[in-house]
Amino acid sequence: MPTPVEITRVDPFDDDAVNAWWHAYAAAKTADMGEHATRWSLEETRSELQQHSEVVDRRAYLATAGGRVVGSGSLALMLKDNRHLARLGVTVPPAHRRRGIGTALLQHIEAVAASEGRTTLAADTSWPASAPADGSGQPGREFARRHGYDIALGDLQSRLRLPVDDRVISELLDESAAASAGYSTRSWVGPVPDELVAAWAVLDSSLDTEAPTGDLDLEATAPDVADIRESEELIATQGRTSFGTVALTSDGQVAAYTQIVISRDDGNAFQWGTLVRREDRGHRLGLRVKLENLRMLQRHTPLPPQIYTFNADSNTHMLAVNRRLGFEPVGRMAELQKRTV
Ligand SMILES: CC(C)(COP(=O)(O)OP(=O)(O)OC[C@H]1O[C@@H](n2cnc3c(N)ncnc32)[C@H](O)[C@@H]1OP(=O)(O)O)[C@@H](O)C(=O)NCCC(=O)NCCS
Repeated sequence: MPTPVEITRVDPFDDDAVNAWWHAYAAAKTADMGEHATRWSLEETRSELQQHSEVVDRRAYLATAGGRVVGSGSLALMLKDNRHLARLGVTVPPAHRRRGIGTALLQHIEAVAASEGRTTLAADTSWPASAPADGSGQPGREFARRHGYDIALGDLQSRLRLPVDDRVISELLDESAAASAGYSTRSWVGPVPDELVAAWAVLDSSLDTEAPTGDLDLEATAPDVADIRESEELIATQGRTSFGTVALTSDGQVAAYTQIVISRDDGNAFQWGTLVRREDRGHRLGLRVKLENLRMLQRHTPLPPQIYTFNADSNTHMLAVNRRLGFEPVGRMAELQKRTV
């Protein structure tokens, strides 16, 4: 018998509601991924929900049963590009599972997405490296299957413990520098320098379609410096720190970029995008910018204990780069998708 569930939208300025939302979300994420659960902290979540964004309309939902919080959900509607798409999330703490709560949340959020004219629904779910590679038997995978979501792209979640031996970095840098003679690099902590940000926006906006995308129904987004600055404002509000490195051609064009962000709250570092422009591929620039960025990160105090990264499991080149740096797989993330028309 499904539990009668009430679903309400969270007011991001209602502290109690956001706290309750986050505790349900965090308990569900930790249940499945243990120490490798990559989740936003409570305050990062609050800042994100409260941000007025020109890029994405973010909404959060709380499920209660008999006055108790039993689950939480989220919906993100892209406002500029990909207006056919809705990203959603459903999280139910282990104590409340298999009573229809996830289904009630999902159906509610799917109905909101439909009322906003969204026809492709996207979500993700993770399982540990010790589970079967295809996720069989894992709660998120089985729930997705039950509700008609396919795996559009399979990702590996990998972890690199820090510090990496400086000699390993230098050795790999020598090798990549030889293959990428003629390019220079530039690194910084904090916002992207003004003179580089337009080119950074071009590379960053092409990441979603230039990196392997499997069956994901994504359109290329238009580069916009304002979007980069908006993301940096959120990073600053959340107290996170961003490390960026670019490779430059001899005439000053940005050929490759990479970014790592440290969470002040959980102390971990997260690899964000890395991309080499098409015409500059084949010079080990991906490895080189990652190494330069890592070298800068290793000078940071306090040093994060580890970096997490997610890569398409078909992205053999990037995975080989990561392996050489010492990344080890700790889990898998499935990018789920359902088309409603
Ligand atoms: C996935 C999740 C939301 C399911 O929540 P839930 O409240 O247990 O889901 P429901 O009770 O509505 O389950 C609906 C159906 O999904 C399937 N299902 C859910 N969990 C399952 C499991 N552990 N094993 C097998 N099937 C499962 C079943 O078909 C189930 O129906 P049944 O119980 O009648 O057999 C919850 O396990 C969770 O929070 N996981 C972590 C976050 C996540 O991966 N979210 C999914 C992507 S957004």
